[in-house]
Amino acid sequence: MESQLARIEQSLNARYTLWVREALDELHHNFTITDPTISGHPIVFASPGFLKMSGFSREQVVGNNGRIFQGPKTNRKTVMEIREAIREERAVRVHLLNYRKDGTPFWMLFQMSPVFSKEDGGVVHFIGVQVPIRRNKKLTDDGADAACNEIAFGSCRREVCPDSLVELTRVLALDTDTNCKGVKIEESCEASELEKQRAATAINDILSVLTHYSESTGRMVCEKRCSLPAAGLINSSLNISLGRIKQSFVLIDPHLPNMPVVYASDAFLKLTGYDRREVLGRDWNFLNGVDTDSSTLHQV
Ligand SMILES: Cc1cc2nc3c(=O)[nH]c(=O)nc-3n(C[C@H](O)[C@H](O)[C@H](O)COP(=O)(O)O)c2cc1C
Repeated sequence: MESQLARIEQSLNARYTLWVREALDELHHNFTITDPTISGHPIVFASPGFLKMSGFSREQVVGNNGRIFQGPKTNRKTVMEIREAIREERAVRVHLLNYRKDGTPFWMLFQMSPVFSKEDGGVVHFIGVQVPIRRNKKLTDDGADAACNEIAFGSCRREVCPDSLVELTRVLALDTDTNCKGVKIEESCEASELEKQRAATAINDILSVLTHYSESTGRMVCEKRCSLPAAGLINSSLNISLGRIKQSFVLIDPHLPNMPVVYASDAFLKLTGYDRREVLGRDWNFLNGVDTDSSTLHQV
């Protein structure tokens, strides 16, 4: 049976040519790509820009779910909006508070979009673009035209000059609950038109790369569902939910000819030694052999 790590590695390799990673690395956007068909809905690719922004290494990010960047002040309602969009296999754009590896919170514009298989209409990946919300402002209180950044820090926003950033970052990391003392608390943060445009451009660029590199593998992807989901196809949301069940089981579709297997859990694959691709679509009784008790089979 393929290990979880191998499945994560294969997620891009099986659908796009090998150059896809290089092409994605060259895009100057902060983004991640996830695979909803793998248990836990993990990140299978993280861009260099995203790693730099979050402070995590690729090894720490790939294989984990995007929720690892959330923290105590992340708005649960916004998280539910993302979950709902995944369930309905559609795009979403929200303002989200996340935390870097060193514990500092930051606001970002998060835009997510599904990637569909042209073959069977199923969702093969999701793209998530993270644009940090940041404004430039000229401060003139010392009489000089010093350019400072007004950074959307956690659920507070304050104007800071680069020199004080290191200290502020340290304090914020040590105590995220008290970081709002004395500064205006903002429950939400609105991205500028430019930031919204940046997110939309990023999604388009990533989709172009994925579409292009899927052409020569014959397993083409597209940004809109270009065919009705094939019979027996499990949607992303059900796949993610089933992936949380640790027991060995399969699901069959009794409405299709020969009642094929439409889902096989990781524990089932481990128990039987089969690869998922060898199991899906097969007649439900493929595990039977000469010594299988026919009366028990009859009962089933
Ligand atoms: C492609 C993709 C990227 C994501 N990136 C992030 C992220 O950077 N930060 C975050 O807080 N959530 C991110 N998420 C959302 C979480 O992975 C998860 O879907 C969300 O927390 C809702 O699910 P839950 O209620 O099971 O946690 C991402 C989701 C997808 C599909």
